[in-house]
Amino acid sequence: MPSSTSSRARRALVLGLTGLLAAGGLATASGTAQAAGGTLGAAAAEKGRYFGTAVAANHLGEAQYAATLDTEFTSVTPENEMKWDAVEPSRGSFTFSAADQIFDHAQSRGMKVRGHTLVWHSQLPGWVGGLGASDLRTAMNNHINQVMGHYKGKIHSWDVVNEAFQDGSSGARRSSPFQDKLGNGFIEEAFRTARAADPAAKLCYNDYNTDGINAKSNAVYNMVKDFKARGVPIDCVGFQSHFNSASPVPSDYQANLQRFADLGVDVQITELDIEGSGSSQATSYGNVVKACLAVTRCTGITVWGITDKYSWRSSGTPLLFDSNYAKKPAYTAVLTALGGSSGGGGTPDGATCTATYSKQEEWSDRFNGKVTITAGSSPITGWSTTVTVTSPQKIVTTWNGSPTWDSSGNVMTMRPNGNGTLAAGASTSFGFTVMKNGNSTAPAIGACTAS
Ligand code: G3I
Repeated sequence: MPSSTSSRARRALVLGLTGLLAAGGLATASGTAQAAGGTLGAAAAEKGRYFGTAVAANHLGEAQYAATLDTEFTSVTPENEMKWDAVEPSRGSFTFSAADQIFDHAQSRGMKVRGHTLVWHSQLPGWVGGLGASDLRTAMNNHINQVMGHYKGKIHSWDVVNEAFQDGSSGARRSSPFQDKLGNGFIEEAFRTARAADPAAKLCYNDYNTDGINAKSNAVYNMVKDFKARGVPIDCVGFQSHFNSASPVPSDYQANLQRFADLGVDVQITELDIEGSGSSQATSYGNVVKACLAVTRCTGITVWGITDKYSWRSSGTPLLFDSNYAKKPAYTAVLTALGGSSGGGGTPDGATCTATYSKQEEWSDRFNGKVTITAGSSPITGWSTTVTVTSPQKIVTTWNGSPTWDSSGNVMTMRPNGNGTLAAGASTSFGFTVMKNGNSTAPAIGACTAS
């Protein structure tokens, strides 16, 4: 690995772990050794990549949704909240409340944010389509300036233009108010405006059905090549990667990513989801991750949602966590492809642990829970895990551990209270009482982090 790459990888690892530590409420633990690659984000960080997900603001209040997000991911993309219809529903009137909710959640936990998306034919308020050419040009540039300006210096990458090419063999641009009234030059103009609006953000072109080498990806390739030759600012190309049986992961996926990277842009997998289940879905996910890792300039992977429950195509169960937030075989395949391990098995020199929950006594108004912490194949001197309850449940008592709480009061991070040192394979446990307040749902236990 060239030294510039390895120092970038190290920086990304530090950033990734910082995000992870913050995400788990472990900010004070920086400097302690972490279990090697026990989560998607940590494993990706060890490879110098981020691992992100699309997030919807209206689910952030759901404890398991937020806990899974905070434990596993190091980057977020607002699924709908930064789109034109969400932030500028009427001309010149900008509203960022839902977008800010996601941004603030991510930033406070050290996660990166991908901006999605500035100029797109879809989710475009009606008033935009009604404008004449010169007015539309002004409105497009103003939209880019206002939205990028709101987050100036804080967005990792922006999808500046989304889905501007037609499907099929024509290689032509898609009809849209921008294309029809401003012509091909609208894409270049959007990128130039974007560079001036936030010079720190990486500027991406993002599209679907461009994942393999085909007429549509050739057309995008030729545009990027032309931009690079003429000095039009572009830093990255996003490959959405929405796959199913009719549109599987192409055999030339890696070669396609590589040919774009060879033009001098980063490539990112921006909206990955693969319909299916079991081992065939897992194999496809693993292949996507391996392809990204094989391309030095493939800087990160974003899946298009956390749980099948809230996927835009939920019936196809395309994500890594099922509707109950259980990890699917696809999750394990991704983690393994990233070189990570879910703990317990132990990595050669790493301190690892597992955390398992069991319900104890139950009464009409409350129940006791027990979490057993078991060291992996190496001795450990410290551990932590999270216990997330569903509001309006409350944890009212704990024993044999030292708890801290997030601001919602629903997520407890537990660390040792004199029981942090465990021999390889040895166990300890802590306990707690949950007041049901009408809800008997079992708590969600986060990954165990050892030192
Ligand atoms: O929020 C409203 C709700 O109030 C209303 O009752 C309901 C009735 O239909 O609609 C809700 O809004 C929906 C929104 O998702 C939030 O769930 C919209 O109808 C629906 O059109 C919208 O779909 C989004 C889709 O983009 C729109 O094009 C999906 O969530 C989102 O995952 C999807 O994401 C796109 C990427 O941006 C670009 N690439 C393709 C990808 C998948 O289509």
